[in-house]
Amino acid sequence: ALPDKVRIVEVGPRDGLQNEAIAVSTAVKIELVERLADAGLRVVEAGSFVSPHKVPQMADTVDVFRAIARRADTSYPALVPNEQGLKAALACGVTEIAIFVSASESFSRKNINCSRAESLERLEPVADLANASGLRVRGYISCIAGCPYDGTVDVEEVALMARTLNDMGCYEISLGDTIGVGTATKVRTVINRVAATIPRERIAMHFHDTYGQGIANVLASLEEGISVFDSSVGGLGGCPYAPGANGNVATEDVLYLMEGLGIETGVDLGSVARIGDWISEVLKRPNMARAGRAILAS
Ligand code: HMG
Ligand code: MG
Repeated sequence: ALPDKVRIVEVGPRDGLQNEAIAVSTAVKIELVERLADAGLRVVEAGSFVSPHKVPQMADTVDVFRAIARRADTSYPALVPNEQGLKAALACGVTEIAIFVSASESFSRKNINCSRAESLERLEPVADLANASGLRVRGYISCIAGCPYDGTVDVEEVALMARTLNDMGCYEISLGDTIGVGTATKVRTVINRVAATIPRERIAMHFHDTYGQGIANVLASLEEGISVFDSSVGGLGGCPYAPGANGNVATEDVLYLMEGLGIETGVDLGSVARIGDWISEVLKRPNMARAGRAILAS
């Protein structure tokens, strides 16, 4: 049976914007985060405390956190790659962080300049300090269905990473199809392998829509008992170290699917559609959310 309700983790302000060539003003980022939370999204990933040399678009995350009006019912996680990032996050009152690793070796080196093993070693004290400071810690695993450099990725590596992040105290682990190559059967296989290692309720799915498989993969995941999905308003997104990768599956499309299936999200689709249209216009790019475009046209 499908779940009665799902939680949507809105990653547009982080995953969506991190790869944008156009400099997005801090004011626009603040408005984006606030409008998404007001639309009913209870988790809005608001930025990342990473090297500004590597991801210039996220260099003002501290200013975003200082300015946003935070709702008491909403969590605003930020990505943190190391202790330097955690200290910056703590200094501006972040209450939830996301740590991130890769199931493939080459992507790890390109994205965070170290091996998978080194990344786990580096993150252990970060997770410990974060948990000891009362922060919630979420984990991401990239390249769960394929790597832009190594090609095939062994599902055993995904499971190993998931168990390690779980042991580090992550309350939830998001499995990222970074380059959107996964299809439904693959996705089911990965979920079931990981669910043999960590509780299924702790698994979230994070799909990029490069090959148009995002919604099909969300449905396959629902059928495997997953009830947490990452998505981006307007289908924004892409990782700077995953060339050719598209945005995340669009929040609007995910919401439309859930409404049709009678699954509760607590999010107002019409509001998200308007936000998607607005931010696409600001970025001078087409609105990639099919459901958003259709709703606004009708
Ligand atoms: P490094 O290059 O190995 O070097 O960084 P370092 O640690 O020696 O630091 C080099 C410089 O970066 C120094 O500055 C540091 O101060 C600075 P300099 O002295 O040269 O001016 N630095 C920092 N600055 C601000 N905040 C920090 C920080 N750390 C170092 N926290 C590092 C290693 C991991 C930091 C770097 O490679 C990095 O920032 N990588 C992040 C890349 C990234 O953000 N990728 C996108 C997010 S992951 C993703 O999108 C996938 C996901 O969506 C899931 C999916 O789809 O699969 C989550
Ligand atoms: Mg991503």
